[in-house]
Amino acid sequence: MSFTDEEGNESLKKSKKKLKGESAWRPEGPRDPFALLDSLPEKKQQEIQRALHLFSLGRSLPKTLQEAKKHTYRFWGTQPVPKLGDDVTAHGPIEGIEASVRDEPYTLPQGFSWDTLDLSNPFVMKELCSLLNENYMEEDDNTIRLDFSSEYLQWALQPPSCQSQWHCGVRVQANKKLVGFIAAVPADVRIYETEKQTVHVKLLCVHKKLRQKRMAPVLVRELTRRVNLQGLYQAVYTADIVLPTPLSSSRLWHRPLNPRKLMEVNYPRLRQNMNLQRALKFNRLPETTKTNGLRPMTKKDAPEILSLLQDHLCKFKLSSILSLQQVEHWLLPRQNVIDTYVVEGDDGSLTDVVSFYSVTSRVLNHPVHTALKAAHLLCMASTGSELTDLMGDALILAKSNGFDIFTAFDVMDNAIFLEKLKFTVSDKSLHYYLYNWMCPWMSPDKVLHALMSPPVKTHPRVSSQRSFTSGPSVDSSLNCKISLSNLYSLRIL
Ligand SMILES: CC(C)(COP(=O)(O)OP(=O)(O)OC[C@H]1O[C@@H](n2cnc3c(N)ncnc32)[C@H](O)[C@@H]1OP(=O)(O)O)[C@@H](O)C(=O)NCCC(=O)NCCS
Repeated sequence: MSFTDEEGNESLKKSKKKLKGESAWRPEGPRDPFALLDSLPEKKQQEIQRALHLFSLGRSLPKTLQEAKKHTYRFWGTQPVPKLGDDVTAHGPIEGIEASVRDEPYTLPQGFSWDTLDLSNPFVMKELCSLLNENYMEEDDNTIRLDFSSEYLQWALQPPSCQSQWHCGVRVQANKKLVGFIAAVPADVRIYETEKQTVHVKLLCVHKKLRQKRMAPVLVRELTRRVNLQGLYQAVYTADIVLPTPLSSSRLWHRPLNPRKLMEVNYPRLRQNMNLQRALKFNRLPETTKTNGLRPMTKKDAPEILSLLQDHLCKFKLSSILSLQQVEHWLLPRQNVIDTYVVEGDDGSLTDVVSFYSVTSRVLNHPVHTALKAAHLLCMASTGSELTDLMGDALILAKSNGFDIFTAFDVMDNAIFLEKLKFTVSDKSLHYYLYNWMCPWMSPDKVLHALMSPPVKTHPRVSSQRSFTSGPSVDSSLNCKISLSNLYSLRIL
C-alpha cells in the first residue's frame, strides 16, 4: 500500500513489501460499497451520507496542536520541516541543497502512472474540474459541493512563469482516469527580512476511493522533486489540519449577504434564536457604497496598485513579493473569478485597493436553489479610507454582484473590521507552512494573505454560541466529519 513515502525506514519497508503490488490503492474486500451506494436513488444516498456525517465516524487528522501531539507523522516526520514543539528562534533552510535531486519520478504502484497535466487543453482542464468537484470537499454530506470552473483553475494555476510540470497528476493506467493531483505555482515571498524564491503548493487532491493509502505523500515527494529540479528548495502551503509545524494559524470568519438563501439551503446555521426576519434585519446592508472614487480596477491601475501593495508589505512578516505581471494576473477582474476595486482620489491617484475571489458551490437536491456563491477576501490595502468603510463597501458590492456569503481569515489587519461588520467566527482554522525553512512563529496579523489564499474548501460551520439556525438544527457538538472514503472503510453497506 505505501511505497516511496517512507523510504529508509526498515520496519515500514517490511509492511510495504507485504502490501505492494496489484492491491495497492485498491479498495479491499469482496464488494465495492461505492458501486452499491451509486446504485441507490440520489435521495437515499444523501440521507445515508448526512447520517454518517452527523455521527462523525471518520478518521480525522489533527485539527489542534493537542491532537497533533498524539499523532505520529510517518511522512511529515521525514521532511525538512520544524518538529512540533520545537522552539524555533533561528532563520534559514533546514536542509542544504547539496543532496542531488533524483532524476527519475517516484515509483507508483502497478496500474497507476504520472501525468503532467496540460491545462491549456480544455479536455484536460475539464478532467481536473471533475476530479476536484467530486473529491476536493473533505466534509461532504452530499448537500453542497464545490464547483471549480476552468476559469477559476486557469487563474489559480496558471500565473506568469507557471510551469506545466508542476501540474502533477496521477492516472489509472487502464482507463486513464485522473485520480490524484497536486500543483505548485511560483510565489516569491518575504519571510521576516529574507526574500525567497519559492512555490506555493495548491490543490492537493486524492480521489475518495483511494484515500488513506499514502498517495498524498507520494504526490508531495514527486512535486518536491520537480520543483527541486528547477533549483527551488522552499515552498509555502496552507492546510486546515495541523502538520509539523505551523508558522502561523488563522480562523475563518464569514458574513452572510443573502441570509434567506443560506437558511433555505441550511448552509451555516443562522444565529441561534434568530428567525428569518431578525436575520434579514441583522445582516441588512446599505444599498450604495460610501467611499468616493470607488471603481473596478482596470489594467492601467496595475503599476499604482503594485506600489500601494509594496508599501503595505513591510508591515508583515510573511508576504508575497509581486511583479507587475502578477498584479495583473491575480487582481484584474475576471467574471466569476476575481473582483478588484480601487479608490481613486481627487487628484487621480489610487489610495486603496480591495480584492475578493469567487468560489461557487453546487447545491444538491434542493427544490429551489442550485448554486451558492461565496466571495473570499484576497487582499486589501488602504491609505485613504478607513479599512472598515472599505470592507463595508466590498460587502455591498459583493451582494449586488450576487454573492451569498463573504468570508475572510483573521490575517492582515482584518481583525479591525470583522466584528464591526458582523462577520462571525467559524470553527475552521487555516495553518500556514513553509517547506525547508525555519523561522519563529508569527501571529496571523503579521501574515499578508494575498496569493497564499487557498481555495476555501469547506463550508464554514459557525461556532455554536453565535451560530444561525433554521428549521431542525443539527447539534453542533457533534463535530461531524465523514466522506465517501470513510463510508467505504466502514463497510456499512
Ligand atoms: C488531503 C488528501 C489528499 C489526503 O489524502 P489521504 O488519502 O487522506 O492521505 P494519505 O493516506 O494519502 O496520506 C496521509 C499523509 O498525508 C498527510 N496529509 C493529509 N492531508 C494533508 C494536507 N492537506 N497537506 C499535507 N499533508 C497532508 C497526512 O498528514 C499523512 O502524513 P503523516 O503520516 O505524516 O501524518 C485527501 O484527504 C483529499 O484529497 N482531501 C480533499 C482535498 C483537500 O483537503 N486537500 C488539501 C487541501 S489543504
